Parts: sequence; structure tokens; C-alpha cells
Amino acid sequence: MARRGAFVVVEGLDRSGKTTQTDILRQRIQEAGKEVACVKFPDRSTPIGKMIDLYLRSQSDLDDHVVHLLFSANRWELASTILSHLEQGKLVLCDRYAFSGIAFSVAKILPSQPSLSTTIHSEQSFGKLSPINLTWARAPDSALPSPDLTLFLDVSPEVAYTRGGYGEERYEKADMQSRVRSVFEEIGREVSADAGEGKHGNGKWIVIDAGREMHTVTEEIWRHVQPLLDGVESSVGRLWA
Ligand code: TMP
Repeated sequence: MARRGAFVVVEGLDRSGKTTQTDILRQRIQEAGKEVACVKFPDRSTPIGKMIDLYLRSQSDLDDHVVHLLFSANRWELASTILSHLEQGKLVLCDRYAFSGIAFSVAKILPSQPSLSTTIHSEQSFGKLSPINLTWARAPDSALPSPDLTLFLDVSPEVAYTRGGYGEERYEKADMQSRVRSVFEEIGREVSADAGEGKHGNGKWIVIDAGREMHTVTEEIWRHVQPLLDGVESSVGRLWA
């Protein structure tokens, strides 16, 4: 079987250095003579992406479930493009993916001091819409192409804030970021446990301490990506499959 390109996702809190590091990584891959296709979610250029953009800039209000489904639909819009890049042997480098979708949606319902095991797995309905939990949040993204490697750039919300403060967008607030970080940690544990049991559906999850000096972070990221430059033999997995 011919080797296909590797699918690499970079995740992290707002101001984790994700976009800068993704850009440096793209350059290094090209300098190594390899083809790379860059994708970023949300992709605000599509019709669905435009609705997401209005919501993030607080120009529209939508139910949390609806927003979650829009973010997921935005990924499905590009799923076949991602697959075709991978089949052509290109490394796909993706700035945020379904893990962000879950982390930000589930974080909305957490109290400020989250007790994850009780909160995010509970199913409650008191005559209202059920709050978004992990099981519900995963469903619309299941069967999307799954990354071979996810690099989670971990930084505390406090350090993130010192990097020029948060912007004006809806989720760029310290308490929200700290809840998002807790859900990312839970997702990372889950993905790593699956990989440990030999289920490769969600790929490998690597936590990178992104609170360090930029160059150090870049080198660590490169150490994980370099072995994937010549592609991978296995077929593309499917998320949560
Ligand atoms: P960006 O700053 O990387 O463009 O992302 C915009 C915001 O959207 C960011 O706060 C994370 C959030 N987000 C979600 O809530 N769900 C998703 O599925 C994705 C990809 C991002």
C-alpha cells in the first residue's frame, strides 16, 4: 500500500502560541522538501464559517447546541479536502480540530471550579434542554478523518493572558479558558487511554509545555513531527470510531 500523508493537529487555549508555532512548523516542513496543506478551524470563509464568525464576535446569539453543530459542520465541509490531501501524500497541518469543538462547548456548562467527573458525564434534564456533555459533544464529529498526531500546546490561562491579554471574542476570558483547559485534559486522557489499548481511532495525543521559550517549544514540536514527514502506511482513521 502506498504511503499517505500524515494528519497533524495543533490544539491549545487562546494565546497558547498555536498559530505562531503552526506557521513555523509549516515553514520547516517545506524547508525539508515536503508538501504541506494547512487547514484552520473555524474556517471563517465558508457560509457556515461566516455564521460562526458572527457568533464569535458577538454579532449574533445562538443556542449552544446549534453553535456546536455549526463548528462540526464547518469541519465536515472540509473533510473530503483533507482526505484528498492525505491521499496525495501531503502532510495536513491543522490549527484546531474536533477536540476544540468539544472542549469549548463542554466548558460552557462547567462551574468555575470544575469537578469534571461529576459534571461532564452527567445527563440532566429538568424540563429544559440537556446541557452539553462529552457524549453529546463527540457525536457530530464522529467518523471525521482522525489525526495521526495531536499536539496540545499547554499553557496556564495566567501565562496566556500575560502574552498581550485576551481579545474581544466571546470565549477569550480567563475563567472560560481555565474550564476549557480542564476539558482538554480530560480529552487527552481519553485519547491516550484509547491509544494505550491499541485503538488507534483518535491517534496520538502529546502535551507540549507551551509556557517555555518559543524556540524550545518549536524544537519539541519538531521532534514529534519529523518522524511523520515521509508519511504513514496505515489508512486514515475515523474519530471516535
Ligand atoms: P481561533 O481564535 O483559533 O480562530 O478560534 C476561534 C474560537 O472558536 C476559539 O475561542 C475557539 C473556538 N472554537 C470552538 O468553540 N469550537 C470549535 O470547534 C473550534 C474549532 C473553535
